[in-house]
Amino acid sequence: SSISCWSHWKENNGELQLSDWFNPQKRPEVVTVTGWKALVVWEGTNNSTILENYYAKQKITMGLTVFAGGRYIEHYLEEFLVSANRYFMVGHKVMVYIMVDAVSRMLLIELGPLHSFKVFEIKPEKRWQDICMMLDFLFCTDVDQVFQDSFGVETVGHSVAQLQAWWYKADPDEFTYKRRKGSAACIPFGQGDFYYHAAIFGGTPIQVLNITQECFKGILQDEKNDVEAKWHDESHLNKYFLLNKPTKILSPEYCWDYHIGLPSDIKTVKISWQTKEYNLVRNNISL
Ligand SMILES: *[C@@H]1O[C@H](CO)[C@@H](O)[C@H](O)[C@H]1NC(C)=O
Ligand SMILES: *[C@@H]1O[C@H](CO)[C@@H](O)[C@H](O)[C@H]1NC(C)=O
Ligand SMILES: *[C@@H]1O[C@H](CO)[C@@H](O)[C@H](O)[C@H]1NC(C)=O
Repeated sequence: SSISCWSHWKENNGELQLSDWFNPQKRPEVVTVTGWKALVVWEGTNNSTILENYYAKQKITMGLTVFAGGRYIEHYLEEFLVSANRYFMVGHKVMVYIMVDAVSRMLLIELGPLHSFKVFEIKPEKRWQDICMMLDFLFCTDVDQVFQDSFGVETVGHSVAQLQAWWYKADPDEFTYKRRKGSAACIPFGQGDFYYHAAIFGGTPIQVLNITQECFKGILQDEKNDVEAKWHDESHLNKYFLLNKPTKILSPEYCWDYHIGLPSDIKTVKISWQTKEYNLVRNNISL
């Protein structure tokens, strides 16, 4: 069964101690451990020599799922893939799954070969259970972003959430959570831990499957009850992670928006959000 993905992983995970690779004292100015004892990984807190050495022996297989529907595929996919090829889990076996719709499928043909990972296209209706058996960890990402620096094994965990760059310093009562009572995603004032970004989340494949299924259930329920859903994926993801706390959290360095500027606590930007200006993106690609 699909559960065996996770238990197989746990058996092999005995020897690495947290204190071997994680040093929160390297970033005393930011939150590095949550109230429920999950790590918040900031640049400098990880020792990648030790981690890389450990995971190389584990021979892990990483999955990266990217949602590239409609015209997004021509505007963003190539740059996303080329940058992921360069920075995502370098040195490990990586499989990239591109979720496309019927229109976008045709455009895929023009992509050149990428050497260090395999690319698969999958239809949304394809059962995720098949993927589960092949991977140790999986990240789900939006296509309109670019890898800019190493995104390594320090990010893997049972369930992994991303701090949203615009909200990481704000109070939970300011977050754009869904507040309406009738919504499945409702988080009342006075509740909430962080505001998580839907552009990247991950974990073991069985966890990621559960996250996407639960969010989808919530969206359908809201549609049935005619609840207006702005930012709806993200609202449901935030509700999921409120009820099922992530075991690891990535600092905003892992998905930064340069429109904010570059405050001193952002040491290395690993992924940046793409500009929505299509012309600009086009020009970059053709250079
Ligand atoms: C990582 O750990 C190794 C082995 O303990 C140590 O030699 C090295 O200095 C550490 N690197 C950093 C950046 O702390
Ligand atoms: C932490 O991990 C990142 C990404 O793998 C790496 O670039 C960086 O050098 C690591 N930091 C340390 C101090 O090892
Ligand atoms: C999946 O999500 C449901 C609903 O939040 C939760 O009750 C359940 O424990 C989750 N399952 C796993 C395997 O995390």
